[in-house]
Amino acid sequence: MKRIGVLTSGGDAPGMNAAIRAVVRVAMYKGLKVSGINRGYQGLIEGDIVDMDLASVGDIIHRGGTKLRTARSMEFMKEEGQKRAVEILKMFEIDGLVVIGGDGSFTGALKLHNLGFPVVCIPGTIDNDLWYTDNTIGFDTALNTVVSAIGNIRDTSSSHGRINIIEVMGRECGDIALHSGIAGGADSIIVPEFGFNIDKTAKTIIEGKNRGKLHHIVILAEGVGRPYEIADVIEHKTQMETRVTVIGHLQRGGTPTAYDRILASQFGEKAVNLLLEEKSGLAIGNKGAEIICVNIEDAISKKEMPKKTLYELANILSK
Ligand code: ADP
Ligand code: F6P
Repeated sequence: MKRIGVLTSGGDAPGMNAAIRAVVRVAMYKGLKVSGINRGYQGLIEGDIVDMDLASVGDIIHRGGTKLRTARSMEFMKEEGQKRAVEILKMFEIDGLVVIGGDGSFTGALKLHNLGFPVVCIPGTIDNDLWYTDNTIGFDTALNTVVSAIGNIRDTSSSHGRINIIEVMGRECGDIALHSGIAGGADSIIVPEFGFNIDKTAKTIIEGKNRGKLHHIVILAEGVGRPYEIADVIEHKTQMETRVTVIGHLQRGGTPTAYDRILASQFGEKAVNLLLEEKSGLAIGNKGAEIICVNIEDAISKKEMPKKTLYELANILSK
C-alpha cells in the first residue's frame, strides 16, 4: 500500500471534513501518499482526483459540508460504472480507498471490494441509520441543531398557545426525531418505526392544555411524511391553531460538534490502519468509546431500529 484515496459520497454530514483531515494526516504520518477524489463515485468515474498534502486539509476541522464535495452517481450504480471506477483507481496508482458516506455509499463500496479493490468505509450521515455503530459522523451535530430549533419554536409556541409540528430529517430512520424529541422536551414524537395513532396524539395535547401546558411540540420524522396533512387533522381534532416547520437542510450543515470531530478523527485513523493491515470490505463504527469494525455486508444487512426503551421514556417524560 503506497497511495490511498479518500472520497465522500451521498448526503453530506458535519464532521466529514474532520474525517478527511484525519485520513490524510494519519496516512502521511505513516508514509503513505493520499489522493482526494472529488464528488464521490461520480468524480471517481470521471477521474476528478487531486493530490492531498498536510496543508490541503488545514483549516477544515471546524467546517460543515465536505471539502471533497459529494454526489449521488447513477453511473456508479451499474456494473460498467463500477469497473470503470476500478480502472481509474489503478490508473491513478491508488492501492486502497476510504469511502465516507451512508448505507448507499457502503453498498457501492462493497461492489468495489467484490471486484477485488481494497476498500474500507467510514459512516458519515446525519441519519444515524446504521445498526452496527452507536454513532455516525454528523448525527450529534444535526441533533444539536434540531434541539436548538425546538427551543426557539417552543418560545413562540408558548406565547401563542399553539401546536407546533416540527419535521426533522432521517430518511427512513427515526433516530434524529426520537433523540431530539427527548432532548428538546417534545410533547409528542412520531417516528415511522413505532407507528402512531393521531387520536392519541390529539388527546395528549388536549390533556396537556387542560393541565396548563402552554407549548405543544410534536416532532415528526421525515419518514412518516405528510406534515401539513397531519397538521390539518391535529388542528381539526384539537381545535387548536397548528403550525408546521420543516427544518430540512438547516440540520445538514453547520460547524460540527466536538463529539463529531473526535469520532471522525478516530474513524479516519482506523481506516488508514485497516488498509495498512491489508484489510478490505470493512465498515468502521463505535460501541461506546471503542472503535470497532464489521464486514460491510453485515453493516448494510439490516435496518437501524431506534431504541424502544427511549421511545417509552419519551412518552413518560412528555406527560
Ligand atoms: P448515502 O450514502 O448517504 O446513503 P445514497 O443512498 O444516495 O447516499 O448513495 C450514495 C451513492 O452510493 C449513490 O449515488 C450511488 O452512486 C452509490 N450507491 C448506492 N447504492 C448503490 C448500489 N446498490 N450499487 C452501487 N452503488 C450504489
Ligand atoms: O441521508 C441524509 C439525508 O439528509 C436524509 O435525512 C434525507 O432524507 C436526505 O438526505 C435528503 O437528501 P437530499 O440531499 O437529496 O436533499
